[in-house]
Amino acid sequence: MYSTSTVALGATSILPKAAPHVFRTASTTGLRTSSFLLYNGSLRKNMNRTRLFSTTRPTRIKEFFPKVETKQIVEVKTSWCHPVFTEKEMREIKYAHRNTRNWSDWVALGTVRLLRWGTDFVTGYRHPPEGKEDKISRRFVMTEHKWLVRFIFLETVAGVPGMVGGMLRHLRSLRRMKRDNGWIETLLEEAYNERMHLLTFLKLAEPGWFMRLMVLGAQGVFFNGFFISYLLSPRTCHRFVGYLEEEAVLTYTRAINEIEAGKLPKWKDMDAPDIAIQYWNMPEGHRKMRDLLLYVRADEAKHCEVNHTLGNMVQKRDPNPYAAKFRDPGKPHPSKGTDTMKPSGWEREEVI
Ligand SMILES: [Fe+2]
Ligand SMILES: [Fe+2]
Repeated sequence: MYSTSTVALGATSILPKAAPHVFRTASTTGLRTSSFLLYNGSLRKNMNRTRLFSTTRPTRIKEFFPKVETKQIVEVKTSWCHPVFTEKEMREIKYAHRNTRNWSDWVALGTVRLLRWGTDFVTGYRHPPEGKEDKISRRFVMTEHKWLVRFIFLETVAGVPGMVGGMLRHLRSLRRMKRDNGWIETLLEEAYNERMHLLTFLKLAEPGWFMRLMVLGAQGVFFNGFFISYLLSPRTCHRFVGYLEEEAVLTYTRAINEIEAGKLPKWKDMDAPDIAIQYWNMPEGHRKMRDLLLYVRADEAKHCEVNHTLGNMVQKRDPNPYAAKFRDPGKPHPSKGTDTMKPSGWEREEVI
């Protein structure tokens, strides 16, 4: 399931000139480049035999999250297999915004905008308004490294809401001795999917101490904030996640556009990590970085739809339409795939 590449901590690179796609970064900015990049293509095979890329002592080399094998166990399988997305479906995904309709929506959107500002500040991101791309200061031009910093930070936060929501609904079901009607599994699966995004990007770069500190602080604040908010108003929390995912769709759309415009040359021909190829079941010939970001964006668009839909439901009573069997299977209904996706979510009247 996992690649077998190793990471050289603080390595001094002596890469051969025949590896122009190698991506070097400064650890002072929070990330170290993973040897996955060094291992890309034919170089990967050679590196398994000779450690050409580093003068670091062997004792300092480690795998960032190595595959665990025991005497009896070869591999750990997931219960949540990813649904198949076709390239056509993924390419048709566009950024879409759901308009606010009440005070709860306004609170959710306002909080997302505030968090977005904070995240942009932390990750050094600023995107110019439409049509003014050339006016952006050089300081804010996005490189492959800056995108990875942003992706990793965002994914460490994105995996929290599903877990908190699922956990609180699980505890409520135990406490009140009542059924949950299918919400818990969808929420936990979302958290799992976000963590797979994170593990994928961690195959491309290893966070340094500053990044780890920021993630620790962000998780402490965000987990507790979301936990209390979900107790007070789960509907507002799902709307909040819906708006947060709109921003995620926007972020990944911009990264895809930059790859296609040739602004991220190091990612142009770079292969996706093995862990991603296996998780999304990426077909042969569609395993590049651009393909990977198409999958991640499709996932974010799905989270957006799911959470806006759950935000439209009566929280304590309605069944989860994503885990439901409908009376009329001929009509389009919410599903795990992208074929019946509605960017702004399904209305309650459509599914209940
Ligand atoms: Fe994500
Ligand atoms: Fe997401």
